[in-house]
Amino acid sequence: MMIIGCPKEVFKGENRVALTPESAKQLQKLGYTCLLETGAGINANFSDKDYKNAKVKVVKDASELWKQSDIILKVRGPEKSELSKVKLNHHIISFIWPNQNKSLLEALKKKKVTVQAMDMIPRISRAQKMDALSSMANIAGYRAIIEAGNQFGRFFTGQITAAGKVPPAKILVIGAGVAGLAAIGTAQSMGAIIRAFDVRPEVAEQIESMGAEFLMLDFESDGTGEGGYAKPASKEFIKKEMELFRKQAPEIDIVITTALIPGMPAPKLWPKEMVELMKPGSVIVDLAAEQGGNCEVTVPNKIIETKNKVKVIGFTDLPSRMATQSSSLYSTNVRHMIDDLTPKKDGIPFTNMEDDVIRGATVLHGGKITFPPPKPKIVAIAKHETNKIKEKSSEEIAQDEIKAEKKAGKLQFLLLVVGALLTWFIGYYAPSDFMQHFIVFILSCFVGYQVIWNVSHSLHTPLMAVTNAISSIIIIGALLQMRTENDIVSILALISIFIATINIVGGFMVTKRMLSMFQRS
Ligand code: NAI
Repeated sequence: MMIIGCPKEVFKGENRVALTPESAKQLQKLGYTCLLETGAGINANFSDKDYKNAKVKVVKDASELWKQSDIILKVRGPEKSELSKVKLNHHIISFIWPNQNKSLLEALKKKKVTVQAMDMIPRISRAQKMDALSSMANIAGYRAIIEAGNQFGRFFTGQITAAGKVPPAKILVIGAGVAGLAAIGTAQSMGAIIRAFDVRPEVAEQIESMGAEFLMLDFESDGTGEGGYAKPASKEFIKKEMELFRKQAPEIDIVITTALIPGMPAPKLWPKEMVELMKPGSVIVDLAAEQGGNCEVTVPNKIIETKNKVKVIGFTDLPSRMATQSSSLYSTNVRHMIDDLTPKKDGIPFTNMEDDVIRGATVLHGGKITFPPPKPKIVAIAKHETNKIKEKSSEEIAQDEIKAEKKAGKLQFLLLVVGALLTWFIGYYAPSDFMQHFIVFILSCFVGYQVIWNVSHSLHTPLMAVTNAISSIIIIGALLQMRTENDIVSILALISIFIATINIVGGFMVTKRMLSMFQRS
């Protein structure tokens, strides 16, 4: 049975902690013993007492913790001051950024350390529960809007008050990955008008479903790369993109930039001249500040004000500014990682290099650097059907719609003629009372089809729930049939009442569940 230890983060200003009392409880269930350096959780509002209540042993200093532990959980990778504490064959799980930290990898290799980098988890559905980058980016996106609101001198939402009319704030989100979408969601709930742009065409639908407008670009390209990330855009594309932003700049009040290609410096999408086009009082939050920034004037970790009174926020510690929340999510991601590393739940980790997710995250194993990993076998996010976007002008879209309507009209006419001929043919031979019922049957099929076909997919479940409740019609029919002398008919009626009752009760239960999904508490 191995010991998991969590030291206090030594990086200045880092408030997060990799182990919370809750995650410690779960790790103990996997057979591990948990240790914590005293005060490690205090900046995230978890006291030593909270940990002791969760049966975590609190040790007095970092050296003691590193010495006693087999597995070390951290948020930031080991700092220089910590390297001397690393033991031979230690197992470390933390953010590492292997591409940018080659010397750290070399130092850890010498001590035959096994390292799982939380920033290397592939973005595939199975690994979502461990995707620490997404959890942190989600918080960063939320916090970016809060920080912007803090510096912006107006309401986000439009208002008409006795004291005057207030226009809604206009926000532009560049890069609609995890952080961008979180920013859109937060700004939307605060009532702002949001426009967004991304190089990956598949996010257009996500942007629109969150109530923002996707800015169209007249350019043929697909920025979808591997592993759920984007690939670098061409020079021509970036040029066109900047033309689009140049038109937006004078109108926009707040810009949130999150554009990034993993392992590359952030593309410069908001140069000085664009900042100069903005109105005084506008705010830019540059989430990519740590990778050089998307905005040319960003200063990492600072808020600066330009000559034309635009504030540029370059904080690189947004998740750490919400340390309780980010520690909870990060520690849960780490706990899930350890869960997968401990298939036998016996408190002994097994680095299974055949497992796509573990392989992707493992950057050091058996005294070797195992980074970069081979490409994951599964494609992260389904590519757009056509693989290409050719944005169309509204005129082209209207032309297409007219063509599609004409085609559908012809098909409908053909179907009507075939249907009429078929009905005439049946009517010629069948008795008249059969025909009466038959025509009602055809009409109800037609009405039913028209009603259901035009319902969007997302509404199928509530629709099913309500139509199930309509099964009461079956009950009325069955009750009428119950009066017959024929036992078989009565039994069949009884069975149909029973089944229809299940449908009705089930229908209302599903409806209730659906409604509670939209209730706030
Ligand atoms: P992500 O990879 O999910 O999103 C980045 C998005 O940018 C992708 O959708 C990509 O298609 C898009 N993109 C790339 N090039 C573009 C271009 N030229 N034009 C428009 N869009 C483009 O990344 P995630 O996880 O959402 O993170 C976003 C940024 O936030 C990263 O820079 C990350 O390092 C940063 N971040 C910052 C934090 C802070 O405290 N400041 C904390 C966490 C993340």
